[in-house]
Amino acid sequence: MTMLTATRPLDRVADFPAIPAGWAYLDTAATAQKPQPVIDAIARGYGETYATVHRGVYQRSADMTLAYEAARRRVAGFIGGQSDECVFVRGATEAINLVAHSWAAPRRQPGDRVLLSQLEHHSNIVPWQMAGYEVDVVPLTADHCIDLDAMAAMIGPQHKLVALAHVSNVLGSVLDVQRAAEIAHSVGATILIDGCQAVPRLPVDVAALGCDFYVFSGHKLYGPTGIGVLWGRADLLEQMPPYQGGGSMIDKVSFARTTYAPPPTRFEAGTPHIVGALGLHAAIDYVEEIGLAAIHAHETALVREAREALGRINSVRLFGPEDSAGIVSFEVGGVHPHDVGTILDEAKVAIRAGHHCAQPLMEALGAEATARASFGVYNGLQDIEALVRGIERVTRIFG
Ligand code: ALA
Repeated sequence: MTMLTATRPLDRVADFPAIPAGWAYLDTAATAQKPQPVIDAIARGYGETYATVHRGVYQRSADMTLAYEAARRRVAGFIGGQSDECVFVRGATEAINLVAHSWAAPRRQPGDRVLLSQLEHHSNIVPWQMAGYEVDVVPLTADHCIDLDAMAAMIGPQHKLVALAHVSNVLGSVLDVQRAAEIAHSVGATILIDGCQAVPRLPVDVAALGCDFYVFSGHKLYGPTGIGVLWGRADLLEQMPPYQGGGSMIDKVSFARTTYAPPPTRFEAGTPHIVGALGLHAAIDYVEEIGLAAIHAHETALVREAREALGRINSVRLFGPEDSAGIVSFEVGGVHPHDVGTILDEAKVAIRAGHHCAQPLMEALGAEATARASFGVYNGLQDIEALVRGIERVTRIFG
């Protein structure tokens, strides 16, 4: 196996106390491990500075409100949006459900359709169906990227919304969002981008990308679970009715009539995940301190090494493009991916095996399930060596 020559290894594993020596954690696409600064921010939030936000008249609550809103500004800066365009939600799933409920469902006219791609995660399929839409599906190219030429040929005025993954959670295929947005807008469609797998590994600027909604989860970005972001163009959020009703999201309540707060408060009913927002702030500081370009270069080098090494094993079939971002999906001929995952676990290698919440993609790949290795800032060549040794053992056991 060649060494990582194209890029200096990031060597950040010491920042991650939950990764013991000798454990190859290759499941970052499911959820990233947490670096010490994020753990510290969460511990400080609960152990030192904790209070509610937007309600208390006491100093501690005012300070916490400032910290919560500073987290929102940090998120906005991170993705090139404005603070009042960033809604804190539980995660990307909730963000998409919010848009489906408050934007898509109220606008649905007879004949309106949603355009998705073959590789979408279930969270970018089911909410649109629940909002009453029929969907059309953009196929994949031979190397498993969303086929934008096919999209341009099939899109029409019936497509009210286009919803696509920026980076596939199964294949690591990277979408040219700018072009997809141009195609969507050419027929007057609105475009939502699922950025869950993109924000931990690619610089994102929603203004430059030209999308209308962009969503992501904090926990895949080295932040806490239970916090995520819906970014929406200000004029779109302004037109949308609330998703949930309750405290905070109102302007004036009476039994006869209630009026609502402006965005983003309108969409944050109830006490929010205050400390989650602080943890997300720390996570963004952490990845930006390393630099997204450096993270991307590091993961690209790991992907190349992994694909090369796995590709040399006869029974391995690789999915996805050569230049996939941080994710490698594969199958070992004749062995169920769950067995692959179990044998790897015995060798202290953690991967995900299954359909990855993308059953329509599995159908297109002609696979019941895949094994998936996904990388983060803590991974190095030793993890790929452990993976390859584990797969060689799988082939010996089942050979
Ligand atoms: N979307 C997450 C994954 O791909 C859960 O593993």
